[in-house]
Amino acid sequence: MSPVLGIETSCDETAAAVVDDRRAILADVVRDQLDAHRDYGGVVPEIAARAHLEVVDRVVDRAMKDAGIGFDALGGVAATGGPGLIGGVIVGAMTGKAIAAAHDLPFFAVNHLEAHVLTPRLTDNVDFPYLTLLVSGGHCQFVAVEGVGRHRLLGTTVDDAAGEAFDKVGKMLGLGYPGGPAVERAAQAGDPERFELPRPLRGRAGCDFSFSGLKTAVRHAVERLPAGPLSDRDVADLCAAFQQSVADVMADRSANAIALFRDRCPDGATLAVAGGVAANRALRARIEAVAEEHGLSFVAPPARLCTDNAAMVAWTGVERLALGLADGLDFAPRPRWPLEDLAAR
Ligand code: KG4
Ligand code: ZN
Repeated sequence: MSPVLGIETSCDETAAAVVDDRRAILADVVRDQLDAHRDYGGVVPEIAARAHLEVVDRVVDRAMKDAGIGFDALGGVAATGGPGLIGGVIVGAMTGKAIAAAHDLPFFAVNHLEAHVLTPRLTDNVDFPYLTLLVSGGHCQFVAVEGVGRHRLLGTTVDDAAGEAFDKVGKMLGLGYPGGPAVERAAQAGDPERFELPRPLRGRAGCDFSFSGLKTAVRHAVERLPAGPLSDRDVADLCAAFQQSVADVMADRSANAIALFRDRCPDGATLAVAGGVAANRALRARIEAVAEEHGLSFVAPPARLCTDNAAMVAWTGVERLALGLADGLDFAPRPRWPLEDLAAR
């Protein structure tokens, strides 16, 4: 089967990639917009959309050159169709549609969340069904991945997403945006025991998450320190305590999710992690230990394929192409698009 071009523009990365049905990533280009958003301490949707528009053609060109093929050698074009910042999604989806129309190729409007949860099949050829913990800047959920377009939500966050909590804590501690990688780095030198933080929902039934109280607890811990700028030690210890709390909660929630998933899954199933927060080594290690304890295989894609990228979008296109699940060029980009709505499309 011919390779698929993928385009990702739903947040602050402009990305294009080419992937074939033998799981070869022929090109994987990611252009971040960190400089454009840094002064604002977060992603500004209007700036993001303009920045995507400025570079998307060049990013696609680069990917095609890296892959060493022309558009006519493609089997299809996949672009993120949502959920995400709608201005950016429109830019990527329109670009994908235009290429598909000009070269008479099938077009795939990819759900960004499905692209994240199908990544373990691209990297590790995991069989359906498997359990995925999707943890990103906008989402934090356990998904039973039963097939392409067939996903069962087992639990989700009742307030903030995990990445959002990392980003807010990072901002609070003066670590800039995005907070996740900076908090992980600072935590390495920290003492997780110095500050006592809560473990929201630990020990409760089900596998939902809640992070907003934890974030507030970090703020209160900061307020209790003597006035003045935080020392490097304070920041490191706060990051370590926060990350440890998230890890404890994720371990507890993962055990419950496995129990819920177990009812319907074969022996030797897999627990995978996906999404930007899954790049965090401390969290991966904790979740891996829980998987092992419960007799599940554990899969964590390389960090580069956990954070936003277009290889996962191209791969979702490959999966959908194989099943003949192309979309019409009249597909309307969606700012909200829950995974469970996929089957109904
Ligand atoms: O999947 P992603 O790139 O974009 C979304 O779809 O949201 O995830 C971005 C999120 C950000 O909140 C970022 O802070 C977080 O993933 N993140 C991390 C790490 N790397 C990225 N969080 C914790 N530790 C990391 N190493
Ligand atoms: Zn994402």
